[in-house]
Amino acid sequence: MESPFKADAVKGKVALITGGGSGIGLEMSTQFGKHGASIAIMGRRKQVLDSAVSELRSLGIQAVGFEGDVRKQEDAKRVVESTFQHFGRLDILVNAAAGNFLVSAEDLSPNGFRTVMDIDAVGTFTMCYEALKYLKKGGPGRGSSGGGTILNISATLHYTAAWYQVHVSAAKAAVDATMRNLALEWGTDYDIRVNGIAPGPIGDTPGMSKLAPTEINSKARDYMPLYKLGDKWDIAMAALYLTSDAGKFINGTVIVVDGGLWLSRPRH
Ligand code: HXC
Repeated sequence: MESPFKADAVKGKVALITGGGSGIGLEMSTQFGKHGASIAIMGRRKQVLDSAVSELRSLGIQAVGFEGDVRKQEDAKRVVESTFQHFGRLDILVNAAAGNFLVSAEDLSPNGFRTVMDIDAVGTFTMCYEALKYLKKGGPGRGSSGGGTILNISATLHYTAAWYQVHVSAAKAAVDATMRNLALEWGTDYDIRVNGIAPGPIGDTPGMSKLAPTEINSKARDYMPLYKLGDKWDIAMAALYLTSDAGKFINGTVIVVDGGLWLSRPRH
């Protein structure tokens, strides 16, 4: 689908996207690149990174991949620094790396809970922490431009309660709380905007293939207001809105991109 944004919407900006090699992360990498940004993607799997970088370059996008696990502070630090060394600046940090599996609370070990908290919640903070130096107004490579921006990929699970997702709900609640606090502190002190996107079910993603209730299509008419899954493109467009100048006065908020699903109830 054609983008409603101008091709130079994020021109000259450098975006680092964790989990940028697949799913929603790769679509954001692609769309940011198509709109003029240079892209660094971070992920744990070299093959996934290599193929994503080739795909981006084949579209004429300046892209580089860095192996790393957001759970390791040394990886976060190295990847942020490598991004700066490669492109000379950092404007946009997208925290899209996430872990997930369906399991009842009764069957989830505390280590399983901790693992998802480590990836989603602690990993997000760690990336923000390491990127701050480059994102803050007046930081290295920023010249006369203002502060950069941070975008977290969250969820709507924790607005209510979700079956077999206690670990992810807790982690995404922490991600949202972190986002608001950083928006306050770093918005005030460093001109950095920090926001989130909460996607609903998005087709053709690792998350959907892992979590997809097979009945989502057959029962969709009963509870999905727009009767369909979202596209990765929908998330990427919201991401462009929030991280480009279009979103220059948006700070400390989450845009829900789910077609109205989280607030809906089955028809009766
Ligand atoms: C129960 C499980 C489990 C499962 C892992 N664990 N998988 N418990 N059911 N299916 C437990 C293990 O038993 C272990 O605890 C602990 O978690 C750590 O497991 P490891 O296998 O050592 O972890 P690791 O290899 O680091 O793998 C992390 C992972 C994995 C999260 C478990 O799935 C992963 O890396 N996923 C990343 C990709 C991914 O999931 N992307 C989709 C994101 S979608 P014990 O006690 O045994 O030691 C998404 C959407 C969210 O985030 C919003 C939805 C609407």
